[in-house]
Amino acid sequence: MMRLAGKTALITGAARGIGRAFAKAYVNEGARVAIADINIDGARDCAAELGEHAIAMTLDVTDQVSIDCAVSHTVAEFGHIDILVNNAALFTAAPIVEIDRGHYQRVFDINVAGTLFTMQAVARHMIERGKGGKIINMASQAGRRGEPLVAVYCASKAAIISLTQSAGLNMIQHGINVNAISPGVVEGEHWDGVDAFFAKYENKIPGQKKQEVGAAVPYGRIGTPDDLTGMAVFLASDAADYIVAQTYNVDGGQWMS
Ligand SMILES: NC(=O)c1ccc[n+]([C@@H]2O[C@H](COP(=O)([O-])OP(=O)(O)OC[C@H]3O[C@@H](n4cnc5c(N)ncnc54)[C@H](O)[C@@H]3O)[C@@H](O)[C@H]2O)c1
Repeated sequence: MMRLAGKTALITGAARGIGRAFAKAYVNEGARVAIADINIDGARDCAAELGEHAIAMTLDVTDQVSIDCAVSHTVAEFGHIDILVNNAALFTAAPIVEIDRGHYQRVFDINVAGTLFTMQAVARHMIERGKGGKIINMASQAGRRGEPLVAVYCASKAAIISLTQSAGLNMIQHGINVNAISPGVVEGEHWDGVDAFFAKYENKIPGQKKQEVGAAVPYGRIGTPDDLTGMAVFLASDAADYIVAQTYNVDGGQWMS
């Protein structure tokens, strides 16, 4: 039986990478999915691949008007929203003495404020509808502990774990489960960008950092977006009704908590 039959989902940052894999997994489990991304060409490409159960829309999670439009657009198309995945994010790295205030602001605007205010907009809809819902925030192993060159991104992901706890406790009274997934290292364009930062700051050749980090994963290899879809489907399903305010590591054994 399909675990998300009849459900509708809004996934931010779903034009590529992990969000795109989640969109595909949700459609395969019977859901209709709104692919919302600042990259509208990528979002359209994803929706076209998924067929009639997916729609694409522009979303900039740093812009409240854009968030409100994406929520109304999804409700207008699907009638309601059962599932939100706050997946859009930006990575940046620099030694403490080189951190740029503009980069800090941009990362916190997307990763933290974007997650909070998209969650707020969808939660208002879910509360008004009165049928609960599932909200999944994307954290990271980077949110579990600091890293010498990754202060801003790590802090933003620690904030996601904390926001998930507070929102989870606040919203379960409405039947809304808020939980998070904490990936480790996952193949894709995101990690190509991470690798380029380390090539610059640690004098590595391109691809070297990714290879080293992948080799250190206890499971024996770097993750793929598909490695995360089992948890994403589970947390969005009725089977997760009693799970509140948790962050789950899905990282091949990299972090234990
Ligand atoms: N890839 C990894 O190794 C890894 C590890 C831990 C956590 N994560 C987290 O998982 C999530 C997905 O990661 P990914 O690897 O697929 O990242 P990605 O960089 O490949 O994709 C991020 C998506 O977000 C979109 N986006 C960026 N700014 C936006 C904005 N202002 N509004 C709307 N959309 C915006 C991008 O266009 C892109 O499609 C992120 O939250 C990331 O921090 C990834």
